[in-house]
Amino acid sequence: KKLKSLKGTENEVTMGKTLVIAIDWWAASGKSTTAKIISKRLGFLYIDSGAMYRAVTLKALQNNIDVKDENKIAGLAQNCKIELENKADKQHVYLDGEDITEKIRMPEISQNISPVAANGKVREILVKKQQDFEGEGSIIMDGRDIGTIVFPDADIKIFLIATPEARAKRRKKELERKGIEVDFKELTEEIHKRDEADSTREIGPLKKADDAIEVDNSDMSIEEQVNEIIRIIDKKFVGRF
Ligand code: CDP
Repeated sequence: KKLKSLKGTENEVTMGKTLVIAIDWWAASGKSTTAKIISKRLGFLYIDSGAMYRAVTLKALQNNIDVKDENKIAGLAQNCKIELENKADKQHVYLDGEDITEKIRMPEISQNISPVAANGKVREILVKKQQDFEGEGSIIMDGRDIGTIVFPDADIKIFLIATPEARAKRRKKELERKGIEVDFKELTEEIHKRDEADSTREIGPLKKADDAIEVDNSDMSIEEQVNEIIRIIDKKFVGRF
């Protein structure tokens, strides 16, 4: 079956029922790699919901619109076309047809995203887009409010935590691999600020769903994280994966 909103991939439904796996986490928990590997191993679609908030933030910066201007930002979110494509290397993100996969990872986006993510109208628009992926096959979606707001009935909910130091170290390495140098202290502060903003905003705050399984990945390698999450999924759907 061809997918409406996800270019390029034809997702195979691997079992009778389509599954929704929700993963929520604190900023820079090492998800880009983890969720991608898991979705590949399971043959699920991977949807990075944070990329959508990042895309709207990029559009605001490109158009010199104040990220705190709620109405203008909501208008942008309403009128922009965000598309996701699962390619062999990673999920690509398009904004009005332009490939913005790399641009949205720049520190400038992380530094300006919090007011965009706290904007109730933006959340309403993006949550709806995210919910539309259901029915297109089994999915694994990550973000902050996936287990609580986007898919409260998800089949499996995982809540990943890690110490701020572990996350800052990982993010620094990730940016360095892309040739972006950041000051460790500044990065730690930005992550801390974003955690604070994400967990205290009124609409769609980062919160562990009551039925989510918590995993602390501070001392886990990517491989260990992946195996742990697959173990949790496997335990629930005994031996299917
Ligand atoms: O990669 P990292 O964990 O740093 O962030 P991300 O998942 O790309 O999300 C960037 C920001 O988008 C978060 O700090 C949140 O403010 C916002 N976001 C959100 O509000 N809700 C989501 N479902 C996903 C991201």
